[in-house]
Amino acid sequence: MENLSQNLTFHKSTVNKQDRHELNQHKSCVLWFTGLSGSGKSTLANEVEKRLYARGIRTYILDGDNIRLGLNKNLGFSVEDRRENIRRIGELSKLFVDAGVLVLAAFISPYEADRAMARNMFDSGEFIEIYVNCSLDICEKRDPKGLYKKARNGVIKEFTGISAPYEAPNSPELNIETGKYSLEVSAERIIEYLIQNQIL
Ligand code: ADX
Repeated sequence: MENLSQNLTFHKSTVNKQDRHELNQHKSCVLWFTGLSGSGKSTLANEVEKRLYARGIRTYILDGDNIRLGLNKNLGFSVEDRRENIRRIGELSKLFVDAGVLVLAAFISPYEADRAMARNMFDSGEFIEIYVNCSLDICEKRDPKGLYKKARNGVIKEFTGISAPYEAPNSPELNIETGKYSLEVSAERIIEYLIQNQIL
């Protein structure tokens, strides 16, 4: 991408992230859910958000379908567009984290390099990668939006898992097998991680 960001100066605000953490009584970070379509990213993010809300934590969910209906409506599913999708979501998440919000980002984000790009935008410990690990077989059987069927029929091109790759994370902070564990158990593991790492 051409570098157009020249002759610009970053202005630091007087009230900073640390001040907002003190006001909120909790830290901010991004929980980055990655996995196949139908693996349970949105469901899990919603369950975790519900539990965080009950604890008085300021949260916000960024979700693939929603963001692609608005901010990223000009992007498709080519390698380049998915990269730009993740770059914008990374920058957006960073703004939310700076604002003191605990972000739950649920995107297929199939490419390791793109997830690494997003990770590099954050301070250490702020980017928590959660592999929503579910076999293609199970995702395809679930097929909540009927998209796998369309992909198999060739109606949808470049569909992740069928006609486009999914690169599983090598060292995610958490690996959650949604085909094996209940939603409650999976969500609680994430809450425990946040407590152990002094985010909550
Ligand atoms: S990502 O690959 O760029 O991270 P993202 O999470 O934003 O994907 O969007 C995925 C959602 O777009 C899926 O849940 C599905 O509803 C829809 N979708 C439409 N076409 C495709 C496709 N070719 N591959 C994957 N998802 C698709």
